[in-house]
Amino acid sequence: MCGIIGYTGNSKAAPILLDGLEKLEYRGYDSAGIALLENGIFSVEKTTERIAELKAQTQYGRGVVGSIGIGHTRWATHGAPCFENAHPHLSYDQKFALVHNGIIENFAELRQELEDEGVEFVSETDSEVVVNLIAKYYTGNFLEAVMSAVSRLRGSYSLGILCYDEPETLIAVKHFSPLIVGIGKNGNFITSDTVSISRHSDTAVYLEDGEIAVLSPKDAKFYSSDGRPITKEYSNLSSEIGDADKGEFEHFMMKEIYEQPEAVRKTTEVYINGNRAFFQDIPLDTNKLKSFNRIKIIGCGSAYHAGVVGKYVIEELVRIPVEVDLASEFRYRNPLVDEKTLIIAISQSGETADTLAALKEAKRRGAYILSVVNVEGSSIAKASDFALYTKAGPEIAVATTKGYSTQLIVLYLFAVWAADILKTADKDELSLITDNIIKLPNVIAECINQKDKIRDMAKRSCYIESIFFMGRNIDYAVSLEASLKLKEISYILSEAYAAGELKHGTISLIEHGTTVIALSCYDRLRDKLISNIKEVKARGAFVIACANEGDAAIEKEADEIIYLPKIHPLLHASAEVIPFQLYAYYVAVFKDCDVDKPRNLAKSVTVE
Ligand code: G6P
Repeated sequence: MCGIIGYTGNSKAAPILLDGLEKLEYRGYDSAGIALLENGIFSVEKTTERIAELKAQTQYGRGVVGSIGIGHTRWATHGAPCFENAHPHLSYDQKFALVHNGIIENFAELRQELEDEGVEFVSETDSEVVVNLIAKYYTGNFLEAVMSAVSRLRGSYSLGILCYDEPETLIAVKHFSPLIVGIGKNGNFITSDTVSISRHSDTAVYLEDGEIAVLSPKDAKFYSSDGRPITKEYSNLSSEIGDADKGEFEHFMMKEIYEQPEAVRKTTEVYINGNRAFFQDIPLDTNKLKSFNRIKIIGCGSAYHAGVVGKYVIEELVRIPVEVDLASEFRYRNPLVDEKTLIIAISQSGETADTLAALKEAKRRGAYILSVVNVEGSSIAKASDFALYTKAGPEIAVATTKGYSTQLIVLYLFAVWAADILKTADKDELSLITDNIIKLPNVIAECINQKDKIRDMAKRSCYIESIFFMGRNIDYAVSLEASLKLKEISYILSEAYAAGELKHGTISLIEHGTTVIALSCYDRLRDKLISNIKEVKARGAFVIACANEGDAAIEKEADEIIYLPKIHPLLHASAEVIPFQLYAYYVAVFKDCDVDKPRNLAKSVTVE
């Protein structure tokens, strides 16, 4: 989703902005632009192509002068992805330039008001309303004009703004969309993700909603929404942030698939002490845990799917009812949560607008909020009572892999830890599960080693128009994620079904040659799954099965088989998802799809 970068300093701004935008490409975008201010004149360059195009058209930044500027990658919401709608936007009087991430909900009435006053708009965006409002309120004080304009806005916005009267000042505003200030030796920055400034800055200031930053090359001042000066905490930027290039891999997605054993190992190390699950500093004691009569897991996309696995594992071990909800549904449902509810909000980015809003709604109703997030200091981490961090490192490919895998680890260990405290599961069983969690990096690496076989399979299936996944229990939870991966990056119509449900409607779609992928690792229901395979085979389906090593009975039924190393039945999602990440990847490669940046999708969805 939209990405913002801004710089004011002693260096040439354009190369910094362009490099930064390239690092923000992963968020998903359909147009981009930069604006620099030099001698009271704005130079604006835009493209509806990739950042590489913007680089070429500006001679890699050399063609645009100035040491202050703002840049933007746009993911269209209001108005088509075209040159006029691309950011930055200039005010009607050419005195201000602005980039915006978020949605201004009352933009139509504000636009009407400005048009009635004679302001002409050049774009269809909600963002142009903001820059024109600032121009309207400007009487010589940049900050006051920004504050007056912002006080009229409803919705979500992070803003970066330049004013031609103040050639060194960059003003930033954050409200329900991410925005971080970076402090550097040669100047100061704003960004939607620190990955874009890590080469230039090792110190970050995380703005809270409503806060304003006023930056100059050597100074950073912060204000509350009512204009009071405030003191902000300065944080170190993690050295891991710099690790955002593809290395020897053709795509970030494959690099990240390969990083999974290490990411899982790192995450496990944080939450295991000896061979016991251990959540240091978590403010949940036995009494507090006992006070919860239900757990609700909320998330979007793959994070929601990790939650579905979590439901099976937590209910089995902790014996508290768990519901998994799509955050976008939960937030508007008048949800039944109170102080006896434990919410687990899952999000790789920590910025997903629906998850954040759902979490806040639950908090307002008294629930206790744990979050499982990958990005430290992210909005979801900060809005929760306690954040459990995954250690996936930066994830760039839109389709998550290591993010999902590390979320599973935190959920497993949370379940083991809570079951240990509440004594809801046998101690030896919990030790066995913990030992198996420690083995997962090797198991995942073994699964990745099957990539050539999966590649061949993908080559054979890349002309298929639709695919069905089926499974039971945790196999069903994994089939949701496997199916989403395929949809996201290879644009194949794919559906996931609880295998027992197929006969209640969907089986009517099975005909000669239909591909059905049967996830068959969950031992306890394997025989039932074999019956389901027989049912679809009897109607002509071509069945690819994924089963535990040496399961000859499944092999006999299926047309193709993928074997996985055996692991504790509650943990096998971690192994089973790997072949389908690879499968989706290779199908997308054979179909010549943009693997890392699939059409219409954004990595970090910061609007509803
Ligand atoms: C977007 C991405 C999905 C991701 C979802 C949740 O829709 O395209 O791949 O799973 O957001 O993201 P989060 O950062 O909250 O885990």
